[in-house]
Amino acid sequence: CASALIDRHGRAIRYLRISVTDRCDLRCRYCMSEKMQFLPRHAVLSLEEIALIAERFIAGGVNKIRLTGGEPLMRRDMIDLVRRLGARIGDGLDELTLTTNGTHLVQHAEALADAGVRRVNVSIDSRDPEVFRHITRHGDVTRVLDGIAAAQAAGLRVKLNMVALKGLNDGEFASMLAWAVERDMDLTLIETMPLGQIDEDRADRFVPLGAVLADLQASFPLVRDSHDSGGPARYWRVEGSTTRLGLISPLTANFCATCNRVRLSTDGKLHMCLGHEDSVDLKAAIRDGGLAEVDARIAEALGAKPERHEFRIERGAAPAVSRHMSVTGG
Ligand code: GTP
Ligand code: 5AD
Ligand code: SF4
Repeated sequence: CASALIDRHGRAIRYLRISVTDRCDLRCRYCMSEKMQFLPRHAVLSLEEIALIAERFIAGGVNKIRLTGGEPLMRRDMIDLVRRLGARIGDGLDELTLTTNGTHLVQHAEALADAGVRRVNVSIDSRDPEVFRHITRHGDVTRVLDGIAAAQAAGLRVKLNMVALKGLNDGEFASMLAWAVERDMDLTLIETMPLGQIDEDRADRFVPLGAVLADLQASFPLVRDSHDSGGPARYWRVEGSTTRLGLISPLTANFCATCNRVRLSTDGKLHMCLGHEDSVDLKAAIRDGGLAEVDARIAEALGAKPERHEFRIERGAAPAVSRHMSVTGG
């Protein structure tokens, strides 16, 4: 892909999200079933294959890469990949970053910062130990809090990701935002999305974010901000602080018109849209045909990028797509 990556709707692809592992040490209820089956090792791209494919995207104009999962820091030797891609910052890449559940940040925060990572998104749906344990099924929130502290001590900017869940954390938005302000962090609230079968009905937990924003505006001085992280959030600034509040509302405020991203799944599939099943097999391409074949398949995939997702949350409805976010990398 020596030529720029532009899809058939005229959208330039600048942001590659890579799921480096579908495995995770937590089992968040909105994300996974308790008995989630993980991919066998041979089905998973090697770190070398991931790096080679990522470099083809950089050659095609991708300037932002996010490593995600699953839990990216669960993958052995992950830091080697971060170092290799980090060497491309300023040489094609503007940003290399991670979305993590934070449980392994204490060990890795320094190395991430040394490799050129400047900020991380940490999932923390509740600061209440009981609620956190319930949502994640067995997580210990103090590990995440320690991880966040370690990330900040290493100089990383932290953005908290909080999936809004009715009856679980919907009384905690204001206190999470206040904590973010106090600690110079950002907070993004996310609507739960219908990806993969879980053990409960997502409709029972769905919270539309419009009303949440109205509530927060009553107690925080929020100013609409034109900041563009290159991601799907709309932002507000909390005046008098460094904190940005982001809202990701795929169900109630579709952002597909400005979509700039594609995803490389743990098993080497290129997904052009989070909300569609179709994908192109880059693992087969790199193993059977090499990098020229990878370039050809990427170009083909771009021609087929859907215009938008059609997510709906309805009681009793099957998920929009059968794969889980942990395989596709959100
Ligand atoms: P920033 O670089 O900080 O803007 O990060 P980000 O929001 O792009 O990444 P993050 O991994 O923190 O993702 C936050 C949420 O956005 C996750 O729930 C993702 O699944 C969701 N998300 C990211 N891209 C898309 C997208 O194209 N469509 C939908 N529906 N959700 C997305
Ligand atoms: N809907 C919305 N967000 C989800 N995440 C994982 N699964 C879902 C889902 N079904 C969130 C995680 C993490 C981010 C990458 O996506 O909490 O913060
Ligand atoms: Fe793991 Fe993230 Fe899924 Fe929770 S949402 S189970 S932390 S991958």
